[in-house]
Amino acid sequence: MAEVALQMTGVNKSFGGVKVLKDVDFEVYKGEVHGLVGENGAGKSVLMKTLMGVHHPDSGRYIVGGKEVRFASPAEAQRQHVSMVYQEFGLVQFLSVAENIFMGRLPSRRGMIRRGKAYEESSKLLEMLGSEVSPRALIADLKVADQQEVEIARAFSYDPVVFVMDEPTSALSFDEIRHLFDLVRSLRDKGMAIVYISHKLDEVFEITDRVTVIRDGVIVSTDNTSKIDVGTLMERMTGKKISAEIHREPSKYAKPSENILELHNLDAKGLFSDINLTVGKKEIVGVAGLLGAGKTELGKALFGALPKTIPITGKYILEGKEVDIKSLTPGKAKKMGIGFVTEDRHSEGMIAEQSVSFNITLPALNRVTRRFVVIGRRALELVRGVIKTVVLRPPEPGRLVKLLSGGNQKKVVVGKWLATQARLLMLDEPTRGVDVGAREEIYDVITQLAREGIGVLLLSSDLREIMRASDRILVMRHGRIVAELAPHETSEEKLLAIVLGEQVAKKEETTK
Ligand SMILES: Nc1ncnc2c1ncn2[C@@H]1O[C@H](COP(=O)(O)OP(=O)(O)OP(=O)(O)O)[C@@H](O)[C@H]1O
Ligand SMILES: [Mg+2]
Repeated sequence: MAEVALQMTGVNKSFGGVKVLKDVDFEVYKGEVHGLVGENGAGKSVLMKTLMGVHHPDSGRYIVGGKEVRFASPAEAQRQHVSMVYQEFGLVQFLSVAENIFMGRLPSRRGMIRRGKAYEESSKLLEMLGSEVSPRALIADLKVADQQEVEIARAFSYDPVVFVMDEPTSALSFDEIRHLFDLVRSLRDKGMAIVYISHKLDEVFEITDRVTVIRDGVIVSTDNTSKIDVGTLMERMTGKKISAEIHREPSKYAKPSENILELHNLDAKGLFSDINLTVGKKEIVGVAGLLGAGKTELGKALFGALPKTIPITGKYILEGKEVDIKSLTPGKAKKMGIGFVTEDRHSEGMIAEQSVSFNITLPALNRVTRRFVVIGRRALELVRGVIKTVVLRPPEPGRLVKLLSGGNQKKVVVGKWLATQARLLMLDEPTRGVDVGAREEIYDVITQLAREGIGVLLLSSDLREIMRASDRILVMRHGRIVAELAPHETSEEKLLAIVLGEQVAKKEETTK
């Protein structure tokens, strides 16, 4: 018999009269990785946060290692070896990696803080994760993937018996994920109980032993992962049938008559080089590549968002006119009709302290203002339209963005750009953290926008997404475009091989 490490029974939780957890029972064995899946806003994060003492449940029993517990705060949970990697980062930007990991408990002797010891311990933790981050680095100087590793190291430093990971890989690259999975497996084999929350169902199938589905705050099912297929799982999550496989027919797609975007030998020192590409009117061009392949940097360069210290050369033509990339700023780019959905919803995409309407109307203000007076009714119509399109839950324009679930925050970021009238829309990992049902809706909107006459550049490491949404696929590796393919000529596996560089992709294979 499997030994129960964590048992929660009858958990209920409401926010302002809205029930988000309804009589939830959830059990995790010692030595298992237990997947927790469900749509955005289903209650995954809130459930685990009631365990941690971040949220206080209205009722419920919690048993850890055979003893009933009710943690008043995360600090107390951590002292009892229950630890969580949160979906949203809680790192302090101006402190070092080690200070963040040992926040509030820096090693000391006779009142003196022993920073050396903190560095040493942090090094060990990071090394175990296969991370190359220096314990002395400032968080503000780290890229998102490195920050995510620090989050994991911090949660792990409490020597957990129960370890909850809420979307731990959303910012990690392929190799970093491999490393994390090796670690997770070895911890499981040592008896740790791991809760694994993710929207990436391929990961769920790879790493978990059992999987529980939660829908609208109610537990739907728990199965042995090997006994369930992805189609069934998606159906249980959404209540709809969604096909897991993607086969693209040789489409009615015709080469566009006009180009919205043309790049000739674009080069940004150390980030990408020799980029030649076009995006036609009504065309969705997918750029596939691993995290770190240079896709985000390319998007930033085209939006004028790279630091001006980085020299960029080459020709950038937007709707037939050459753009002076050296003097381009995001403000100018917006005026020229460029929209950019960024990868990192926290730093650039979203104002958490403001409402959904505020965030959505922000870049679209020229559509809802006349002589700088916001016209309420039109604004609200626009906001309602966007909320419907991205299936925001709950669909309330006035809700503060910080009170939405992680995936719903992402939908706001995507939605606000869909509401603009961009001529060229660049989307960087637009559906990361978004559930399978809402993803399909977002692809439909993107397709519809393209058909209405705009150009779309879709930058993504999600190959299913690339296969599903692109008219034409480019593969980027180490800052270069290495292949061009048509979706109907390839498959997710073939694309993965090219993305990883297992196959020497030849430019001759192109579909020009
Ligand atoms: N502090 C809060 N105040 C009010 N409502 C909240 C708060 N935190 C979460 N909610 C609501 O509780 C519900 C469940 O949210 P939760 O964050 O658990 O979703 P989730 O399953 O983790 O989704 P995702 O996949 O998007 O991360 C959502 O409707 C959310 O808006
Ligand atoms: Mg969540």
